[in-house]
Amino acid sequence: MTGRGRSDLRVYPSPLDVAEAVADLFAGAARDAMRERGRFCVALAGGRTPRAAYELLGAEERREAIDWRRVSVYFGDERCVPPESADSNYKMALEALLSKVSIPPRNVHRMHGEEQPARAARAYAKTLIETMGESPRFDLILLGMGEDGHTASLFPGTDPHADEDQLVRAPFVEQLGEHRLTVTPLVINNARHIGIAVESERKSATLALVLSGPLNPIKYPVQAVAPVDGKLEWFADRAAAEKLPP
Ligand code: 6PG
Repeated sequence: MTGRGRSDLRVYPSPLDVAEAVADLFAGAARDAMRERGRFCVALAGGRTPRAAYELLGAEERREAIDWRRVSVYFGDERCVPPESADSNYKMALEALLSKVSIPPRNVHRMHGEEQPARAARAYAKTLIETMGESPRFDLILLGMGEDGHTASLFPGTDPHADEDQLVRAPFVEQLGEHRLTVTPLVINNARHIGIAVESERKSATLALVLSGPLNPIKYPVQAVAPVDGKLEWFADRAAAEKLPP
């Protein structure tokens, strides 16, 4: 397949097949990172799409395959809500995966959505630097894509590359009328491996424009995802891929 990122697009029959593929990506990246560096640093995506993959990773037949003592979990973005809120990405990951595996609590680095946004963003950038060094390079970053082409909490209308020197930002998202916390493309594109999972016919028109249309990352922030020295893989179900050019 040609075009930006198309060559790394894999289309699956159903959302469950996408979840299996994302769980396999996670396990393979963990195995490689532990073999090469002794630990696995991963940033989880929020929203609904990744939940099924997290549940597979937390299920009995898979969870023992990963040495969770050597896994460090971070988040790509978070809503500005307390961790017990139904809207919290951390809560979703805790329920689907983190509560089911033997990951040391100190290895789970949530974004403090309950704090003042700018302060929480600064604090998370400090956490990234303290635990991963000045230029945090994730072994794997999982992302999703909204119908509007946003990813993490980089939303249309704002140049995702603005404040390019920041690791974490706390944008006020006009479309939502609320602040969000998000890592920036500086962090995302420094990753060794990026997996973007997209499902549903609702996103098919946007996915086609993002992958085969002109580059316009202000309109489609997910287009800002371009690993500097890493691999980008898209995982789509057939419904999301139905408008892609043959
Ligand atoms: C969030 C996510 C966000 C998500 C997309 C897709 O906080 O909501 O990080 O970027 O990946 O909005 O969400 P769905 O998977 O729910 O469609």
